[in-house]
Amino acid sequence: MSDSILLSPLQIGSITVNNRLVMPPMATFKGEDDRFTEEVLQYYKEKTDGGAIGLAIVEHCYVSPEGKAHPGQISISEDGAIPGLKTLADIFHKNGSKALVQISHAGAKSSPKFTEFPVKGAGNIVLNRDGDVPEPFTKEELKTLAERFAAAALRAQKAGFEGIELHSAHGYLLSQFLSPLANNRNDEYGGTIENRARLHTEIIKAIRESCGKDFVIAVRLGAADYVKDGPDPAAGGLTPEEGVRAAVLCEEAGADLIDVSGGLYGTERKGYPGTAMFTDISHKIKEAVTIPVAVVGRITTASQCNAILNDGDADLVGAAAALLKDSDWAKNIIRETLNS
Ligand SMILES: Cc1cc2nc3c(=O)[nH]c(=O)nc-3n(C[C@H](O)[C@H](O)[C@H](O)COP(=O)(O)O)c2cc1C
Repeated sequence: MSDSILLSPLQIGSITVNNRLVMPPMATFKGEDDRFTEEVLQYYKEKTDGGAIGLAIVEHCYVSPEGKAHPGQISISEDGAIPGLKTLADIFHKNGSKALVQISHAGAKSSPKFTEFPVKGAGNIVLNRDGDVPEPFTKEELKTLAERFAAAALRAQKAGFEGIELHSAHGYLLSQFLSPLANNRNDEYGGTIENRARLHTEIIKAIRESCGKDFVIAVRLGAADYVKDGPDPAAGGLTPEEGVRAAVLCEEAGADLIDVSGGLYGTERKGYPGTAMFTDISHKIKEAVTIPVAVVGRITTASQCNAILNDGDADLVGAAAALLKDSDWAKNIIRETLNS
């Protein structure tokens, strides 16, 4: 029997996962009437079959209709979503996985083409493909938005999920707030990193209040914008130091898990040549917080997973593209770990 970290349980807030492997959130784009279909439910069943995934995170579901990110995205914005979510939570639990639902608002990345609402964002900087200039959320609207996130989290809880994950990566609304390239506000939600992370902390507190102390709150944190490797090397962006500070602020507000990924420009770290592309920053975040840290990003092999855990770069590891391609990915990682 291997004594590897990968096969050991981990406490995240009030829950304990069986091992350190994560199914990261992956949009299926296959919702019908913004609900899970039988095909999507079967997909999640297949990906977590056999108990090899310790923590499954459901694709991002929108908390409010104007924040829909793309056609086929699933809604968690009204109570009608609860029965479908419950069926899904039962699937994960039967398979032995603990499960979170990722909840999101697309902000300036949304489009009236599929929401029929005007585009709103952290600032008035264009981010969607159609060139829509977003209207910055007013402070009053941000209060309502925090309530929408909390109501969505409560729906996930009613459906039987252990918690939610706030989507603050890949250019969606919460990552827009963090990035000076999208957030040009002059009020207490713009400027310093404490201000840019204020909405995060308000949402975390609102969820804690409505869902209680045992409900797991994870934050998928686009922890840096990596613009030096990105499209405009001259532009500033969210720095890794600010990303670490944002993680600390989320922990102080009550988050139970930080899930590290890419910032404003998406899931990739442009120009980065190697594998395990976010482990340098997840390592720094792990040193700065006391809650568990997960990491994704070009992680595919058992030796990479074990090295990340052994080197203290993260407490959990996830693979999106690899699991999408091969539903046995996690089972193979466990088998190889046991045989090593
Ligand atoms: C098809 C697909 C859909 C994705 N959808 C989401 C999503 O809903 N939320 C999210 O935070 N990341 C999403 N991602 C990003 C992944 O969770 C992950 O961060 C990224 O793919 C990097 O990990 P990898 O190198 O293991 O693929 C998606 C990735 C893929 C391939």
